[in-house]
Amino acid sequence: MRKNLIKKGSFWLAITLILLLSSGQQNFSFSQDMKIKLNAPDLKISLKDALNQRRSCRDFKEQAVELNTLASILWAANGEKFDSVTQATRTVPSAGAIYPLRLYLLTGKGGTDQLKEGLYRYQPKEHSLELISEGDRRAELSDACLSQDFIRIAPLSIIITGNIQLSSNRYRDRARQYVYTEAGHAAQNIYLSVTSFGLATVEVGAFIDDKVKTTLNLRREETPLLVMPIGYPTK
Ligand SMILES: Cc1cc2nc3c(=O)[nH]c(=O)nc-3n(C[C@H](O)[C@H](O)[C@H](O)COP(=O)(O)O)c2cc1C
Repeated sequence: MRKNLIKKGSFWLAITLILLLSSGQQNFSFSQDMKIKLNAPDLKISLKDALNQRRSCRDFKEQAVELNTLASILWAANGEKFDSVTQATRTVPSAGAIYPLRLYLLTGKGGTDQLKEGLYRYQPKEHSLELISEGDRRAELSDACLSQDFIRIAPLSIIITGNIQLSSNRYRDRARQYVYTEAGHAAQNIYLSVTSFGLATVEVGAFIDDKVKTTLNLRREETPLLVMPIGYPTK
């Protein structure tokens, strides 16, 4: 009886290992509800080098960004820890550990090597992207950002939104300040992580809130906080 159990246990262990190893070779997989599981993050250069090289860029090549690279950038911006050495659960701090931020990815045609053009939501717990809608909305987003043209040209943008209501349940009048502060943490992590891959970005705060909300089909309680176009710099 015991021998049988051990045999069965070894069989399932072997199957699990085979599945794990083969999933490592895939770049991503779709689950039925259109979630794209992302690969584990892997940042390339030292923090000192990333800080020294960080800059704002507004001239992007029309070159696709690799999905594996994007996985690391999204993780740096708001991901759950991998191989955690502390009790903190995310890569960014959050007042009261409420985590009111949400990240959206808006990618244009050919914006990444593997994703269809469209709008996606990043799910930190699963380290996955959820497809919200298909279609290239860069022109609409650029228009919402007072026609800052580089947003239409950059292959993709990450948009940081915040739920101020969620934070104000505990922090009342301080909530707005806290949520904007947290967006700054995420934005700086995006700056540093894109730099580590030879990509570039610029933090865009000049936009019409309602237009960004319509473009992303945001819920009423979600406030757009920052738009960050990302791509390979022309120079
Ligand atoms: C809150 C905030 C909002 C910003 N909004 C815009 C913007 O709408 N458009 C833009 O081109 N740059 C924007 N920037 C980028 C700044 O212009 C840029 O950081 C500054 O010129 C310093 O350049 P550096 O980032 O290369 O050091 C913004 C920066 C911050 C911090």
